[in-house]
Amino acid sequence: MKKIRLSFANFQIEFADRDLALRRVEEWAERGMTVVHVVYGPEGCGKTAWLRQSAVLLRELCFHVIYVDALHRYFEAYTDVKEVAKKLAEAAAEAVDIAQLKLATLAIDLAKELIKRRKRKVAVLADDVFSAIGLDKAAIYVKGLLGLIEYPPGDYDAMITIATTSEGASRREIGRHRWAYLDAMWNMPRDGFKQLYDQLPGEKPPFDDVWKTTGGNPKLLGQLYEFGWDVEKLVQRLVEDRELASFSLLKWGSWLKTAVEDPDVLWSPDTPRELVEELIRKNLIIYNLHSRDPYFWIDVPPPEKDLGLCIGKHVAWQTPLHKEAVKRVLTQHD
Ligand SMILES: Nc1ncnc2c1ncn2[C@@H]1O[C@H](COP(=O)(O)OP(=O)(O)O)[C@@H](O)[C@H]1O
Ligand SMILES: [Mg+2]
Repeated sequence: MKKIRLSFANFQIEFADRDLALRRVEEWAERGMTVVHVVYGPEGCGKTAWLRQSAVLLRELCFHVIYVDALHRYFEAYTDVKEVAKKLAEAAAEAVDIAQLKLATLAIDLAKELIKRRKRKVAVLADDVFSAIGLDKAAIYVKGLLGLIEYPPGDYDAMITIATTSEGASRREIGRHRWAYLDAMWNMPRDGFKQLYDQLPGEKPPFDDVWKTTGGNPKLLGQLYEFGWDVEKLVQRLVEDRELASFSLLKWGSWLKTAVEDPDVLWSPDTPRELVEELIRKNLIIYNLHSRDPYFWIDVPPPEKDLGLCIGKHVAWQTPLHKEAVKRVLTQHD
């Protein structure tokens, strides 16, 4: 498979690892899907990178592939039907809010068009689509994708529909329906993460330190590199970007103090629901982690429990740095 190149910090790197996740795509390509697969996971864990690499993989397996990242008005069309790319390009050129909705809906409409034109293997890959179209439309969108599988306008050999999301709230919205399987993706496993680390030029801190700080999150690795490996700066950045010093979080100070030691505290029925919602909304934790059976995971599951990496059995901080940022505001306000 041809490895894609991805922008990372201020340069380009080659797609690394995620062998299991790509093998999963090959299985889908062979056996097809019966429902939509929605993949969720920590922000920056590598969902987009995997989905874009999957688009190339599927093209090599003779699929006609439509990939849309509606939020960023970006698309890729791997098909000999020229009209597909043309229509997507026209949509992407519209004003922002119109373009986002159009790209998302076109992905489904054009897949139907491909089936009508007797293309037997079709894939629709909708990246981060719910943040583009709004959470209220998430379920209906997934139902639209399911329509491709269940009520196609013609026969097909294999239909693949994958959507990704970083938002915990959308996960709940999708989980209520039977139209999709939710698959989780975690940050990168140690070996794969090392491959990324090795591609970074210049002097760098020991790998072990970087692993413990980022928990294998490639986006944070890129940011750390950009910040000259200054962990403090990155923590401060998280505090500011996520508005962690706001009253909505700090009023739960005593709960948070125990949760930074062990995130599973948040799993207890006594924990205020409002706090859990706020941590999910701010993309700080992943709540209700699946069983570590690899079947439920795209790529390698996280460890059962590893407090060093801030991973509990049921609840995990998205990365150790996320926990660190929360800890920082707690100590500042003591
Ligand atoms: N397997 C990978 N190989 C190389 N770079 C990766 C890989 N996974 C993620 N990255 C890079 O890490 C950053 C964050 O990944 P991204 O796919 O955008 O995360 P997500 O979509 O889950 O938020 C991006 O710069 C991306 O190119
Ligand atoms: Mg993404």
